[in-house]
Amino acid sequence: MNIAVIGAGYVGLVTAAGLAEIGHEVTCIDDDLGKIQVLNAGGMPFYEPGLEDLVKRNRQAKRLEFISQIEHGVAKCQAIFICVGTPALENGEADLSSVELVARRISECARGYHLVIEKSTVPVQTGRRLQKHFGIYKSNTQFHCDVASNPEFLREGSSIEDFFHPDRIVVGVDSGKAAALLEEIYKPVLDQSFACPVHENCAPRSRVPFVVTDINSAELIKHASNSFLAMKISFINMVSDLCESVGADVGKVAEAVGLDKRIGGSFLRPGVGFGGSCFPKDLQAFVRVGQGAGCDFSLLQEVERINLRRIDLFVNKIKNELWVVRGKRVGVWGLAFKPRTDDVRCSPALAIIRRLLADGALVRAYDPQAMEKAKAEVPQIEYCADAYAAAQDAEAILALTEWEEFLRLDLMKVRHLMARPLIVDGRNMFSSATLAGLGFEYVAIGSGSSAREQLFKTGTVRAGG
Ligand code: UDX
Repeated sequence: MNIAVIGAGYVGLVTAAGLAEIGHEVTCIDDDLGKIQVLNAGGMPFYEPGLEDLVKRNRQAKRLEFISQIEHGVAKCQAIFICVGTPALENGEADLSSVELVARRISECARGYHLVIEKSTVPVQTGRRLQKHFGIYKSNTQFHCDVASNPEFLREGSSIEDFFHPDRIVVGVDSGKAAALLEEIYKPVLDQSFACPVHENCAPRSRVPFVVTDINSAELIKHASNSFLAMKISFINMVSDLCESVGADVGKVAEAVGLDKRIGGSFLRPGVGFGGSCFPKDLQAFVRVGQGAGCDFSLLQEVERINLRRIDLFVNKIKNELWVVRGKRVGVWGLAFKPRTDDVRCSPALAIIRRLLADGALVRAYDPQAMEKAKAEVPQIEYCADAYAAAQDAEAILALTEWEEFLRLDLMKVRHLMARPLIVDGRNMFSSATLAGLGFEYVAIGSGSSAREQLFKTGTVRAGG
């Protein structure tokens, strides 16, 4: 099928490349000429494992092209995916101006029937608005369309895997025709009948659930899913605070709680809080939607508040250890909001660094992928070539993003580079026993004093050191 994907950000580019890979002719459109030039030159506007190869292969196969003008792309396409950004406005509501602009442009140049699919994360009833405004904007009587919602659940860092092996595909439609077209578009993914670009020996999988509902419900499913996952994280972070004060081990607590099939172990990792371009903004937008509808969404406001407080709590932890922060050299491992991405939007690591800078700390940082983007946000720190350089003469190392490469470091070498062998772990990625054995002081999230006592008991750390 001829498909247009408008917006070449995370959602748009992964969707465009994925749809081309399963056999569709895809035109990916973005009005950011610079981005289109980078893509047409074979470059990538951001780091995402596996995406560069997927784009390259499908461009070479002439199933994927990149252009910057909507009017040159939509007329030939039966299905049009809207994948533009919906960032948060000052008041937390979703900014839909790009969605509206795209709708206007489509109405001006489309002819005949088109299925217009909103894939951007939007508040409930946006599809209804789109339908109404297509009627208002259209300059050509022949243009008629169905509007559908098809929320995405891609995670940065594993978005290719998530495109080809989703837990479900959700569509919100008003017509059987729209449902049938979307089923046809996703058929290879639904049947799991494609040559998997992610796994070499991809084991056969069962059919992916195809959830067909109305547009409003589909839009709500996205906000509800992300808000629930964010709530799980704030829940375990809340419990981790209790573990710290009563002397319990949040790792064990989360493990046992997660073994309950009704709860599930994922998204129960305590840490410095959730970040990224989705959870913080979707939570805010959902709260505004709830309030706008006169519903009590205070539960989610609490989720947000707990998340914001993670930064204070972690900075206090550092101050507890370092006492006076001013003039102290601190090494930071990890700047991205999570591993396997170069994205630093709403990254807890940057929020913590800003706080320490305000207190006069000297920060050296390293991240495998995100330093260029971090430099644009926090230029006033030292960016290092590797994790060892960040540890040089440091009074403390802060582990803020759980990149796997940090677990493969020569920790003895790190210890000798540091002024004080102290690791404050914001992601509980290290084992306290291993670090104690190497003579480090180790402070983690949600492990009460018992864990530290353990270190003293083993005599590997001097009392009060
Ligand atoms: C999220 C959703 O997972 C995805 O379905 C949706 O489409 C977009 O938003 P993403 O933002 O890429 O994806 O990141 P995710 O892996 O969900 O992590 C979000 C944040 O939560 C990160 O900062 C991560 O570090 C944090 N997190 C995640 C925790 O602190 N603990 C956990 O157990 C899991």
